Amino acid sequence: MALLDIKNLTLEIEGSNGWMKALDKVSMRVEEGEIRALVGESGSGKSLIVRSIVGAIPENFRITADRMTWKGKDLLTMSDMERRLIMRSDITVIFQNPLLSLDPCATLGEQLMESIPGDLVKAQWFWQRAKSRRQMAIKLLHKVGIKDHRKYLKAYPHQIADDIGQKFLIACALVSSPKLLIADDPTRGMEITTKIQVLKLLSRLNETRGLTILFVSHDLLAISSMASRMTVLYCGQTVEDGKMHQLRKRPLHPYTKALLDSAPSFRKDLPPKSPLAALDGTIPTLQHLPIGCRLGPRCPRAQKECVKTPELRHVQDHFYSCHFPLIRDKQ
Ligand SMILES: Nc1ncnc2c1ncn2[C@@H]1O[C@H](COP(=O)(O)OP(=O)(O)OP(=O)(O)O)[C@@H](O)[C@H]1O
Ligand code: SF4
Ligand SMILES: [Mg+2]
Repeated sequence: MALLDIKNLTLEIEGSNGWMKALDKVSMRVEEGEIRALVGESGSGKSLIVRSIVGAIPENFRITADRMTWKGKDLLTMSDMERRLIMRSDITVIFQNPLLSLDPCATLGEQLMESIPGDLVKAQWFWQRAKSRRQMAIKLLHKVGIKDHRKYLKAYPHQIADDIGQKFLIACALVSSPKLLIADDPTRGMEITTKIQVLKLLSRLNETRGLTILFVSHDLLAISSMASRMTVLYCGQTVEDGKMHQLRKRPLHPYTKALLDSAPSFRKDLPPKSPLAALDGTIPTLQHLPIGCRLGPRCPRAQKECVKTPELRHVQDHFYSCHFPLIRDKQ
């Protein structure tokens, strides 16, 4: 059974002109022990999926789904209490722009120790609890590769480098030994060496501790080195889903192909500084969504039929949503 199983998730947002479908029948499964990538251009709805999973839904959002389960339990119908319990013990999220979420007036040590729930502190007497919390905090820092714990437990957020900040947030996310870590674009805006360090750390946690990871990013290059499966999203619709090596080798959807063609290191034949192949135009806003397949106005293969929304079809475990997939071309 998949840890997380989402089928036909639709999220509507109420605007001045009525309800807009920001997510349109999105499907995705996350299996235990895997690193799953969720990729798409900025504005494609990645963070909205994360918000739907964790239940951070304001009043002007409306959610429906054929299925949205955590270990077989329906997330949409369970009580708030049950959902909070899952979010506390099983699923942790590192939200976008996480460094901004740190309190500038408290040391890293204070913040990490405070985030450890009381019932996880193993101490018989109250005077032993502070010591026990500190030991747990030190262990967590070591787990994410921050070795000099004395220095960093005393440091304030403005005194640390980006890579330490990111590792520190991963340490906070590991406090309750979650089964699933959702990282929403954790490497955005980072310089390349910091990015590589964070990616390595997440891969190591997956390999050594069996941590399942949903890695959300607009950066295909960052993701391709570590994820085993990938879901590609365009403008709130799932366009393709399958094993990473299959999608890289033989994408079936024109959008996935355009994404891959835009990522230079996937195309070994390109000389340096070659212009990148990409689609014309930009992703539409929610107020101006095309009818049917939302890639239509930008798609080089679009035909009349594309004004109807394509169903999600599959060849074995490779899913795609396109009336004219690249599979029909001569190989
Ligand atoms: N609270 C909101 N109210 C209205 N529209 C919203 C809201 N949150 C998101 N949107 C819209 O929903 C769409 C998807 O947004 P989302 O933040 O999920 O994109 P994303 O894929 O995470 O992009 P990025 O890579 O930039 O983080 C965008 O068009 C965005 O403007
Ligand atoms: S359904 Fe049509 S418009 Fe959409 S990706 Fe396929 S060919 Fe292009
Ligand atoms: Mg986002």
